[in-house]
Amino acid sequence: MTYRNDPYDPKQVALLDQSSLDDAVAQAEKAFADATDVDALTAVKHQHLGDRAAVSLARREIGALPPRAKSDAGKRVNEARARIQSAFEARLVDLEADRARKALVEESVDVTLPWDRHPRGARHPLTTLMDRIGDLFVGMGYEIAEGPELELEWANFDALNIAPDHPARTMMDTFYVASARAGTGGSGLVLRTHTSPVQARTMLTRKPPIYVVCPGRVYRTDELDATHTPVFHQVEGLVVDKGITMAHLKGTLDHFARAMFGPEAATRLRPSYFPFTEPSAELDLWFPQARGGARWIEWGGCGMVNPRVLRSCGVDPDLYSGFAFGMGIERTLMFRHGVTDMRDMVEGDVRFTRAFGMEV
Ligand code: PHE
Repeated sequence: MTYRNDPYDPKQVALLDQSSLDDAVAQAEKAFADATDVDALTAVKHQHLGDRAAVSLARREIGALPPRAKSDAGKRVNEARARIQSAFEARLVDLEADRARKALVEESVDVTLPWDRHPRGARHPLTTLMDRIGDLFVGMGYEIAEGPELELEWANFDALNIAPDHPARTMMDTFYVASARAGTGGSGLVLRTHTSPVQARTMLTRKPPIYVVCPGRVYRTDELDATHTPVFHQVEGLVVDKGITMAHLKGTLDHFARAMFGPEAATRLRPSYFPFTEPSAELDLWFPQARGGARWIEWGGCGMVNPRVLRSCGVDPDLYSGFAFGMGIERTLMFRHGVTDMRDMVEGDVRFTRAFGMEV
């Protein structure tokens, strides 16, 4: 076979030159390799595999070739195109893996970063102290009793043997609550001046034996200063049972003192007067760790429940006797922790409360 009449010279169709095709492949491979991310790679894809890419234009030239040259050129063009296509795909796989790897690094969470920008709140040291006292007595079999802060004058005074003309009514600086209707006299309500009304409420609602403690908020018309605040807290203890004596009271208070202030703490009772206890005593605490040296500190009041109170609350004083005690929580916190100014406890500055720990 001769080709004498054949006007086709493959060299004339430059695009179909093997070297041109190799060139197109090399250029595409270089462009793909130069693309540093998936976006850049897709941006150059069209240039090397699109309609106007060298291999696409070359393919178009094939139609003009004589039949016997077609298959050879077609094979070579297809081969070149396939190489470009696989170079593209290989690079795409690489860059996608790269992107995933980067995302893992860039989007990872640094668990060591500080997270506590909004510090969690903690309970006030007065609250935790009241809870601790409550827990101590619950451990001895007592129950926690509660009463309203807006209290009946009757429970705050009358039931506790403080008659309307009793000097103790004026001794306690009471917030009286005005009646809603003008000219109708008092409302019969006060902001409770102590936690002792809970004694009356407890005896009216429970049958002896009664063993309760009542921590709670109380009010008196005092100005706020280093040792007074018009709103403060007390804890009341009440026991009513058969055969209760002052020895039980003393033993309970000694245990309370040691549990709160250490094994060397002790209590002392000094004769005193409260309308609702008889006999009554001031309760002093021997506190070896006191700021400024070991000494006796006035802690609260106590005594044997007055039979008149038992009777007015429906308890038979011939069958039952009881003791009661009450002390201020603020005062307790002050000498237990060497706090010298009561205002620190009510002003809510976290720099003060934080020193007591962040117990929740
Ligand atoms: N309620 C008394 C006060 O507030 C304290 C007290 C309680 C005294 C119980 C005796 C018995 O001062």
